[in-house]
Amino acid sequence: MINLLIMGKPGAGKGTQSKKLLKHYKLAHISTGNIYREEISKGTAIGKEAKKYLDDGNLVPDKMTNDIVWDVLNENNYPHGFMLDGYPRTRAQAEALDEMLKKLDIKLSAVINVDVKDDVLLHRMAGRRVCPNCGHTYHTDYHPPKIDGICDHCGHELIQRPDDLEESVMNRLAIYNEKTKPLLDYYDEKKLLVVIDGEQSTNKVFQDILKELGE
Ligand code: AP5
Repeated sequence: MINLLIMGKPGAGKGTQSKKLLKHYKLAHISTGNIYREEISKGTAIGKEAKKYLDDGNLVPDKMTNDIVWDVLNENNYPHGFMLDGYPRTRAQAEALDEMLKKLDIKLSAVINVDVKDDVLLHRMAGRRVCPNCGHTYHTDYHPPKIDGICDHCGHELIQRPDDLEESVMNRLAIYNEKTKPLLDYYDEKKLLVVIDGEQSTNKVFQDILKELGE
């Protein structure tokens, strides 16, 4: 069993690498961003509340996010382990996660930080297109769909995430620097942190992660 946490600035490639790692290690994917986007698209009470924060790039309050992660972890539906993507993002969330793992008697195997400079991220987010139907992610330059604006996998029209517009992206980066970046020291002190150069091709980033995980 391998339990991973993937961190990085918005647009660093967490989702892209998570998909590869999930397949490789047969992990359960727990992405708080994906959970919120799904709730928003279904129009649930959680989705309506979360939308107030997501569109402008603000963090959803800790209590709501911690409760959601607890429900998923407590279901215990991860025979090969899990990949937490986009959680924790604040010190309070990291401490809440420690408590949850203690209660469940689970240990983290590693915390992967995908490291990318701000100018590269801005270009990645400006070009990102996502399929609202099946969740596949593309990039207009690095990973374009075969037919412009159409998902290769399900044929649905691709969209740009509302929080990928410039003003929201700048807010997300500022919040990352203030609230999430300090968690790198938190996990480094616990000897769990692995830093990966995220400015390489997606396959090279993936290979470097596997190497750091001992493969
Ligand atoms: P979330 O969905 O977690 O967004 P994020 O952290 O901002 O990360 P992104 O999804 O934007 O980027 P990514 O790192 O996954 O990059 P990707 O692989 O897509 O959260 C969204 C919102 O939900 C938050 O702002 C907040 O409101 C709320 N939320 C979520 N978790 C929360 C929490 N714990 N607490 C409170 N609120 C929370 O890649 C980006 C692009 O680059 C793609 O187009 C991709 O194709 C391309 N790309 C990827 N890798 C490479 C590469 N190596 N080379 C070239 N292109 C690449």
